[in-house]
Amino acid sequence: MTQPQHKLIGPFKQVVTMAGLPLKGALSDETLPIIEGETGILVSGQHIAQIGKYSDLRKEAGALKAEIHHLDGDYVCLPGFIDAHTHICFHGSRARDYASRNAGKAYLEIAKAGGGIWESVTKTRKASQQILEAGIIQRAGRHLKEGVTTIEIKSGYGLSVTDELKMLRAIKAADKSHPVDFVATCLAAHVKPRDFDGEQEVYLEHICEKLLPLVKKENLANRIDIFIEDSAFSVDAARTYLAKTIEMDFEITIHADQFNPGGSALAVELGAVSADHLEASTEKEITMLAKSDVIPVALPGASIGIGCAFTPGRKLLDAGASLAIASDWNPGSAPMGDLMVQAAILGASEKLSNAEVLAGITCRAAATLQLTDRGKLESGALGDLLAFPCDHYNEIFWHQGKLRPEKVWKNGMVV
Ligand code: NIG
Ligand code: FE
Repeated sequence: MTQPQHKLIGPFKQVVTMAGLPLKGALSDETLPIIEGETGILVSGQHIAQIGKYSDLRKEAGALKAEIHHLDGDYVCLPGFIDAHTHICFHGSRARDYASRNAGKAYLEIAKAGGGIWESVTKTRKASQQILEAGIIQRAGRHLKEGVTTIEIKSGYGLSVTDELKMLRAIKAADKSHPVDFVATCLAAHVKPRDFDGEQEVYLEHICEKLLPLVKKENLANRIDIFIEDSAFSVDAARTYLAKTIEMDFEITIHADQFNPGGSALAVELGAVSADHLEASTEKEITMLAKSDVIPVALPGASIGIGCAFTPGRKLLDAGASLAIASDWNPGSAPMGDLMVQAAILGASEKLSNAEVLAGITCRAAATLQLTDRGKLESGALGDLLAFPCDHYNEIFWHQGKLRPEKVWKNGMVV
């Protein structure tokens, strides 16, 4: 079925455009760009053509023979949410891990004993590309209903050339068949696989030589991630690896300072697009990040799942850094996969304004993925829109994430 060229969506009581907000620093709600009162959005093809007074656009829509998506009642419009850090390509449960963590075993202790990430690697290796693809589609479908229209997805549970390629091909295939846009990241450097004979440096060289050229050739990902931690990769090994991947023209991002500081300094040194986690960052790392262009990404779902401190979002913003918020949806540390609930909890715990929370899952999340065509509502942006059944944006996070969008449009199509 071909989609009609023009659509008029509305009227909305408020359209919170998120357009023109600064990438870095604290944001008060007074700075939120809001178009108030009976506003319509005219979409042409996949993009927003105009935002304006509903009655005026109604006349234009008539001339254009546009389809009318009329909303009865009070609605607030937000840009589609962007989840800039997930691991939703995996197979199998880690419920036992979760139970033993709650019963007192530490995440790193479980990992050292061969559970944790390695358990998901074992299960993911056994799954076919089609099974992985079905898992992505099922999880992305849930995210889409909850307003997430763009999802970053990492590999990292394959940890061999064959299985990493299988994961990345599953992500690419899912992208073709599902309305949500997926951005793939190669996380072959999640941990050194237990069955690799050699030191971490040798494993990383092996990845560079045998996997990354194929990732390029098949156009599977243009982003590289690495987990820097005692139980994963050292700063020095990561520096050599990432420098090579930059030479190969990949963008880089780092799982940094989750339990121990170290990764974020390397992110700044190498000009990574983002440093994600940062639960263990101290004043020193906060100041360093604030002076750089690296976007800090908070992952409240992992803090909730592990039962540890939240990323110091307030301090980062006050120091002048940016802040994106992502779900980290994965089978181990963050199995919930609910971006709105997690962003709301981070907001309440870290004392973030609604503007800061919203920017974290819209415009600042888009910048994390270097996407300039979304995360805001303005003419030329993608028609990724959410209609929340309320008359003021404050209502949305007052429900702590449980007020869901009643309607979601992706690329101008209602989904
Ligand atoms: O972002 N910290 C490392 N990686 C993931 C967890 C992966 C897992 O436990 O399976 C994270 O939390
Ligand atoms: Fe992660």
